[in-house]
Amino acid sequence: MKSEQLNELVYEALETELGGVKVYELALSCAVNPDLKEEWSEYLKQTKRHVEIVRELCEALSLDPDEETPGRKIVRHNADCLLEAMRLAKQGGDPAAAEIVAAESVVTAETKDHQNWELLGEAAKKAKGETARALKKAHEEVEDEEDEHLYHTTGWARELWIQSLGLPAVLPPPEEEKDVKTAIGAARAKQARSEML
Ligand SMILES: [Fe+2]
Repeated sequence: MKSEQLNELVYEALETELGGVKVYELALSCAVNPDLKEEWSEYLKQTKRHVEIVRELCEALSLDPDEETPGRKIVRHNADCLLEAMRLAKQGGDPAAAEIVAAESVVTAETKDHQNWELLGEAAKKAKGETARALKKAHEEVEDEEDEHLYHTTGWARELWIQSLGLPAVLPPPEEEKDVKTAIGAARAKQARSEML
């Protein structure tokens, strides 16, 4: 395994979590549905904890958490774009529309976050010694939460859109009701939505 690129992945993971905190803070101000507010408040808390976990990981790998890399710049830029999109949507004056933009922004941010952690999990399997130990510990702590963040919010984005179309929506979405934590579970929940109406 190329250690330089593993370091880059850890830095990008940290930057993604830092951006995630900002994305959730603004998304929460766009949320209308009280269940969604509750869900995102929990995810914000967990994401703040993820920042700490990746900082600890940096320490274990002797990496300076403030080191700037070209990849981090891109991750930060992408988060800034999501924040800008939510601000624009809020200015639009339609709270239901802004809530959808917020849900889509969270899904975009969490897609990168989810992949980072999947890759860190893969790296943990191949790494050796202290690096393997630190990667495994961090991965085990966040894995389930990352699955929830992505799959549940994807369900919210879909159902909020369906609601906006004037069609019967399942709110909270089946992914949340069924406590989905895997891609297969998410596919099943999506398929079962019609039975939940
Ligand atoms: Fe996270």
